[in-house]
Amino acid sequence: MKDILQELEQRRHEARLGGGQARIDAQHAKGKLTARERIELLLDEGSFEEYDMFVTHRCTDFGMAAAKPRGDGVVTGWGTVNGRMVYVFSQDFTVLGGSVSETHAAKICKIMDMAMQNGAPVIGINDSGGARIQEGVSSLAAYGEVFQRNIEASGVVPQISLIMGPCAGGAVYSPAMTDFIFMVKDSSYMFVTGPDVVKTVTNEQVTAEELGGATTHTRKSSVADGAFENDVEALAEVRRLIDFLPLSNREKPPVRPFYDDPNRIEESLDTLIPDNPNKPYDMKELILKVADEADFYEIQEDFAKNIITGFIRLEGQTVGVVANQPMMLAGVLDIDSARKAARFVRFCDCFEIPILTLVDVPGFLPGVTQEYNGVIKHGAKLLFAYGEATVPKVTVITRKAYGGAYVVMSSKHLRGDINYAWPTSEIAVMGAKGATEILYRSELGDADKIAARTKDYETAFANPFVAAERGFIDEVIQPRSTRKRICRAFAQLRSKRKQMPWKKHDNIPL
Ligand code: HXC
Repeated sequence: MKDILQELEQRRHEARLGGGQARIDAQHAKGKLTARERIELLLDEGSFEEYDMFVTHRCTDFGMAAAKPRGDGVVTGWGTVNGRMVYVFSQDFTVLGGSVSETHAAKICKIMDMAMQNGAPVIGINDSGGARIQEGVSSLAAYGEVFQRNIEASGVVPQISLIMGPCAGGAVYSPAMTDFIFMVKDSSYMFVTGPDVVKTVTNEQVTAEELGGATTHTRKSSVADGAFENDVEALAEVRRLIDFLPLSNREKPPVRPFYDDPNRIEESLDTLIPDNPNKPYDMKELILKVADEADFYEIQEDFAKNIITGFIRLEGQTVGVVANQPMMLAGVLDIDSARKAARFVRFCDCFEIPILTLVDVPGFLPGVTQEYNGVIKHGAKLLFAYGEATVPKVTVITRKAYGGAYVVMSSKHLRGDINYAWPTSEIAVMGAKGATEILYRSELGDADKIAARTKDYETAFANPFVAAERGFIDEVIQPRSTRKRICRAFAQLRSKRKQMPWKKHDNIPL
């Protein structure tokens, strides 16, 4: 008996060594942690339950039968994050470059199936050279099985991808179908084809970092939702994100203890809006001042900064925030900001996370570039996402809410539940200057007349009261009492039930 126990431990020891000490040292030399070290940091201490440690590949081509590393390049199982269950897979680059074989993929599929069945998120730590070349089409088929599960799990359990090394070829498409992608600066890359293929096909010369590094994907392509300095920070931040999310679509988001008075009055908000309507102010200040303990988890911080998306808590309950940012392009809606916010709204809706919308929007960005690139369809994504969302929706207009953008930003007309406005709001078809120039074109030569017309328009429309008279705004509120009002609004909506008409699924403008 003792011998058998010793053998078990010996086998476990070998499996834990992955590709061997030399390769582990090489991994560390690149500033990267190993697959197991990453799991240890991600999960609560001692909570990891590993499966399939002894799985080996079955390939015999290219001399592969000679080496059968235990675990086959991926560590899988489940554990807890602050006591709540998550499933995890972590690719081991020290074993055949973390490449994906039939058995490697089967291990990932097994925990994805468990996650869907048992209702817990899947966190994938990607560090892989992609499909295992020696296995040919079998490894492609195996990837396909992972993709199919990504699709089936979408909207059932949260799926989070950490990119912590190369991620090339079709391998990027599994993370692409997950809810959030986070990268590590200077050590992670995502591309469909690497720099060498790009050079051959398009004659463009580009480094791996320029083509698919963290900066590229968080600022230009928006493929990634955030980037962190190193592995340790990335893993800690994913733990923080998990604390905001429900484990599955079968349950409500978690309620955490809070120490911030829901009735807290913030007098400084009374002066947040500058006297000059064209002067920007920082919408993040409002978000931080209404949130419990000023805790805000921002998503896509570096992309389309004219809109802000992320999670806060109100009375301990998770709320998704979408807010125009007047500091960037005056908070205008454009293709990028509409796409960013639409995806966020849809995530919140599929996991029953209520949505707070903070509005200061001068309209949609005009221009040839926007039109040629399809602002009509991309803008419609946000319109559609808000209109189909049945979670509690509370909206606060702080200043401008002009034209179509007013309707889009969770207005009453898209079934906003509670719509508040600050007294500084201007809810109109457009700003006073633009409106006067259209209505009184024949008087444009007379500056005094135009100034008087503009003033008249401002008096008539640059306020929240016309909308409030029609019930489009439920109440005009004091800025200082915003936290109190929205906490009460969400409390009132806690048992909201609303359903859309039956359909197989909708056809959001993609
Ligand atoms: C088998 C692989 C591998 C792969 C790397 N290795 N990628 N083995 N299949 N796809 C092995 C290497 O042979 C090496 O083994 C070890 O992993 C480490 O690789 P290195 O090249 O030494 O490391 P590094 O210099 O850091 O470069 C990492 C890399 C590079 C950028 C990932 O290995 C690379 O370009 N690999 C191929 C990437 C690729 O084209 N993959 C296929 C994509 S197509 P030894 O024994 O020497 O240590 C795809 C299709 C999926 O994924 C489609 C789904 C539908």
